[in-house]
Amino acid sequence: MITIKNSAQIGKMREAGAMLHDVLMQVKQRVVPGVTTKELDQFAEKLIRSYGATPSFLNYEGYPASICTSVDSQVVHGIPSQHTVLREGQILSIDAGLILDGWQSDSALTVGVGRISEEAQRLIDVTEQSFFAALEVAREGNRISDIGHAVQQYVEERGFSTVRALCGHGIGREMHEDPSVPNYGEPGHGVRLRKGMTICIEPMIAAGDYRVKTLRDGWTVVTCDGSLCSHYEHTIVITDGAPELLSLPGYHKEEKR
Ligand code: MF3
Ligand code: CO
Repeated sequence: MITIKNSAQIGKMREAGAMLHDVLMQVKQRVVPGVTTKELDQFAEKLIRSYGATPSFLNYEGYPASICTSVDSQVVHGIPSQHTVLREGQILSIDAGLILDGWQSDSALTVGVGRISEEAQRLIDVTEQSFFAALEVAREGNRISDIGHAVQQYVEERGFSTVRALCGHGIGREMHEDPSVPNYGEPGHGVRLRKGMTICIEPMIAAGDYRVKTLRDGWTVVTCDGSLCSHYEHTIVITDGAPELLSLPGYHKEEKR
């Protein structure tokens, strides 16, 4: 069931989103060679709780941490560990979510550890840009599959591939609500976007093939061919004009042009 949010509810999700953005920016600053992903997780959990919010990932279906930290060929759901010491040249996807007064926000980004290769930087850039390409069509009256189509077209034109096994999703009181938001496909299918729908658009883009598998820890998703993968996600709300990025406060479409 898709739930349409009223302006008071969107206001709460805007607060949650602004808080999550702040958390992600602070975690990102701590991504340097030598830091462990466990240290990043502990920092994020403390910060989220200090703001009076709750880390939504912790214990979600048994997930053991507050953020996901996915290195290089890890696509998503990498589990923070004291044994994962970040090294110069790696790329790290940080995915985080929090609940504020019962309202969820979910966002992810990918960052280089120290200096990274031009190819890795290009993958990160194209992943982010594919999100903004999808945002262009995230408008009332369009259909859910228009989003994935925009992502797929954008990344494939640039020689990368879009992971199909995992999707974006509706969000609100729950982290995962209807509808599912695929990152590939033909346009013109699925439900129509309506004002007040809150969704997460989250392209996961591989430098090589799009096929993925889950490791024996039951969580970590990696590319089958071992190629680098990047992730970028925001919680957005459909409006009667340009969508609002709830987890990127201050963003206005005009500024990007
Ligand atoms: N943030 C992920 C998503 O976008 C979910 C994280 S799974 C969890 O759907 F178990 F870590 F919570
Ligand atoms: Co998500």
